[in-house]
Amino acid sequence: MCGIIGILGENSAVKAFNALKKLDYRGYDSWGIASKEKNEITLFKQTGKLPEILPVKFNSNVSIAHTRWATHGSVTEFNAHPHISSNKKIAAVHNGIIENFEELKESLKEQNYEFYSETDSEVIPNLVQFYMEFEKKDFITAVIRALSKLEGNYAVLFMHEDFNGIIAAKNGSPLVCGIGENEFFFASDVPAFLSHTKKAVYLNDLELAVASNNKIHFFDLKKNKEIQKETKIIEWNLEQAEKGNYAHFMIKEIYEQPETIKLALEQPKEKINEAIELINKAETVFLIGCGTSFNASLTGAYFFSELTKIKAFAFNASEFSALKNSINEKSLIIALTQSGETADLIDAVKFAKEKKSKIISIVNVMGSSITQLSDLNLMMNAGPEICVLSTKSFSSQLTILLLLASAVAGKTSEVKKIILNAANYITELIPIAEKKAEKIAEELKNAESILVIGRKEFYPLAMESALKIKEVSYIHAEGYAGGELKHGPIALIEKDFPVIVLSSEKTRVNTLSNAHEIKSRGAKIIGIDSIENKLFNEFIEVKEFSYANALVSIIPVQLLAYYLALEKGFEPDKPRNLAKSVTVR
Ligand code: M6R
Repeated sequence: MCGIIGILGENSAVKAFNALKKLDYRGYDSWGIASKEKNEITLFKQTGKLPEILPVKFNSNVSIAHTRWATHGSVTEFNAHPHISSNKKIAAVHNGIIENFEELKESLKEQNYEFYSETDSEVIPNLVQFYMEFEKKDFITAVIRALSKLEGNYAVLFMHEDFNGIIAAKNGSPLVCGIGENEFFFASDVPAFLSHTKKAVYLNDLELAVASNNKIHFFDLKKNKEIQKETKIIEWNLEQAEKGNYAHFMIKEIYEQPETIKLALEQPKEKINEAIELINKAETVFLIGCGTSFNASLTGAYFFSELTKIKAFAFNASEFSALKNSINEKSLIIALTQSGETADLIDAVKFAKEKKSKIISIVNVMGSSITQLSDLNLMMNAGPEICVLSTKSFSSQLTILLLLASAVAGKTSEVKKIILNAANYITELIPIAEKKAEKIAEELKNAESILVIGRKEFYPLAMESALKIKEVSYIHAEGYAGGELKHGPIALIEKDFPVIVLSSEKTRVNTLSNAHEIKSRGAKIIGIDSIENKLFNEFIEVKEFSYANALVSIIPVQLLAYYLALEKGFEPDKPRNLAKSVTVR
């Protein structure tokens, strides 16, 4: 859940620092950099967010750097990476969790190795030192020996004071290698080096790369041999990874949705055909994801019920293994994930694979772990999503799910047209809804709690709305199925309690009768619908787009969440305690 970068090339420290800024959405508790000048490694670490410019001068062509989201040990300079071996010769940055670090640390301590941090990661450079000293191994072999002792997940970069290069290895955490003109990059994510190169090599689990002497070599750690890897050209562009004229990535990414919805529609025909075949062959389809991706999964289950006779159910990926007796070779898993690196989802997919289920993934990040585990990948094509909150990836996921359900139903062209019209309409809607959202946010900023209700596919939309509000404004929010209010949550309603009501032609009668029940108890109602109603204290109009209503109705709530954060003085792109890619369980 941290960001790592390593650069072998001219002016590496400044480049690594700037690259770190592109990765700070992955963690922003503390940061650090190690550079090799002549034959000495120099470290600089700080708690807090990255400063504007690198506060120290390094004249180096080898640097590794890290931005942290604390797991083991509090936020201190000692716990910040890079970590250095006891003899100060080897530095490492690590993303992931070493599960057996305590026993490794104890045995190294017995041999007088010194530790300065509470982290799991500090054992890694010390283990390498151990193999260099006690088994007289060279640096590369010692790294390989050390890696073989680690249990858990890692994307790790190493440098040694006597080695003019970087060693990189991956097992379960993301790592991509950028190939530049006389320079090499290793990073947790592509935006870190996009301003330098679009050529990338994606490492698989248990692969290692060594960059030195203007060359790069790849090794398979399982087979213990050198391998050739394919270089891919990254389709994302630099502007997508920059804020441009927008104040925050969150608002930029909300504005990008008309475009990203259209890009999500552009699925290769053969892939859709393959997906239809897998869906039709399956006895049951399980849609799984976490957070926003789970909310999209649940919306997808409604799409399948609405359009097809397929049995499709949504589950939280973190709870999926509880279905151990229901998953088998006749199950099809549709795994949803923006990052492709969410640990709970990876576990669920691995569990399903053991049960011989087929896996389709709907994923945004090319080369990510989920793409490597799936039988079929449908790429979201949303470009980098930098804000920690998922916005555009949610609408891309809904688009692909709708496309799949309509393809199974033989209604592709009809539904595609509806989605395209909805996407065009969202361009008009955003600036209008933005003004309204800004005003409503001002009124709601002191609310302690907000309820959001909806029925049918607006129920998961209500959950997604509540997730957006709580993540970014820290106001407690709950999304409920309208019919469930009277079974408990209505007890909360008192004068001026804010309730967002999501409805449309299809659900209006019943949703508004729920709105009546709460209005008569004093609720303040913010209606999002195509028709105004006297029950609404505030109203944001959205047009009807049949199957694609969910794509449209989420927009005003994303905007409201954004403005609630601004009203409360919070940074929308990096909410407290969260990180973009959740690679821990
Ligand atoms: O990368 P993923 O889609 O797998 O991420 C899943 C969740 O961690 C993610 O959606 C999270 O809930 C976001 N913060 C939502 O805004």
